[in-house]
Amino acid sequence: MLLADLLRDARARLAAVGVPTPDADAELLAAHAFGMTRGELTSAALSGRSADTLPIAAFEELVGERSRRVPLQHLTGTAPFRTVELAVGPGVFVPRPETEVVAGAAIAEARRLPHPLVVDLCSGSGAIAVAVAVEVPAARVVGVELDPLALAWARRNVDALAPAVDLRAGDAVHAHAGVLADLAGAVDVVVANPPYIPDGARPVDPEVADHDPTVALYGGGADGLDVPRGVVAAAHGLLRPGGLLVMEHGDAQGASARRLVEGPDWHDVRTAEDLTGRPRALLARRGCQTDPP
Ligand SMILES: C[S@@+](CC[C@H](N)C(=O)[O-])C[C@H]1O[C@@H](n2cnc3c(N)ncnc32)[C@H](O)[C@@H]1O
Repeated sequence: MLLADLLRDARARLAAVGVPTPDADAELLAAHAFGMTRGELTSAALSGRSADTLPIAAFEELVGERSRRVPLQHLTGTAPFRTVELAVGPGVFVPRPETEVVAGAAIAEARRLPHPLVVDLCSGSGAIAVAVAVEVPAARVVGVELDPLALAWARRNVDALAPAVDLRAGDAVHAHAGVLADLAGAVDVVVANPPYIPDGARPVDPEVADHDPTVALYGGGADGLDVPRGVVAAAHGLLRPGGLLVMEHGDAQGASARRLVEGPDWHDVRTAEDLTGRPRALLARRGCQTDPP
């Protein structure tokens, strides 16, 4: 059998069950199963290579799993995020492209400073913390994650990619009075992709609904903003005057998120868009005023 025919069949199987990107998924699974880069795979297919010497059964098994909507990244074991490849699997949220933009805003701010202190709340796989540490070597980066399973993935990624990241187990909500009390008032950038789906809403994609951990999805409350509200409170206590908060939210939550930073303690409040133009992140700078006692 030709490799090109094997790929065509796999694409058709994935498309038939509604996998949104069947071409890319078939190629990435084949590259993974056959120990090739995606470029090597596509050029082998284009040059008419036979699949007969390749481990076809392993590939077919992966395509079967993907047809049952197991996330691609759980099957390959990795997720690309900005300049790094993160290890991911069951028990941890798969990093998304929109979060690369959120991390980018934190990185741009950190690069303006000589020795920035950056805190990543709700670290998950460690995606944002690792990206900041790799892209801004002068930064001191601290991450906080509550869920032990996610924390184990984050530790693995930090150890492999950015060992200087200070990863802490704990609650991001009011972290300035808890796990990050030693950093209160000293942080240059607080960045977070907290859970923010409202109670009662169910994600459409089976990959998300059935495989991302519940604690990574639901923010608490009818508006989904209980954890984000706690993240803003933590940022308020952590940031130095002039420090920047960057927090991801759902595309329908822009106005609600901006209301979380109303008042004299915050300024330069704005909503940033993701790569598809949807409003996906709150940016706000900590003012010099403090809350009345
Ligand atoms: C949407 S995921 C984001 C993970 C990662 N930052 C990313 O962008 O890929 C949210 C993460 O927040 C964690 N989390 C939820 N509530 C938390 C809390 N109160 N304190 C710390 N982490 C929390 C979840 O376990 C999950 O790993």
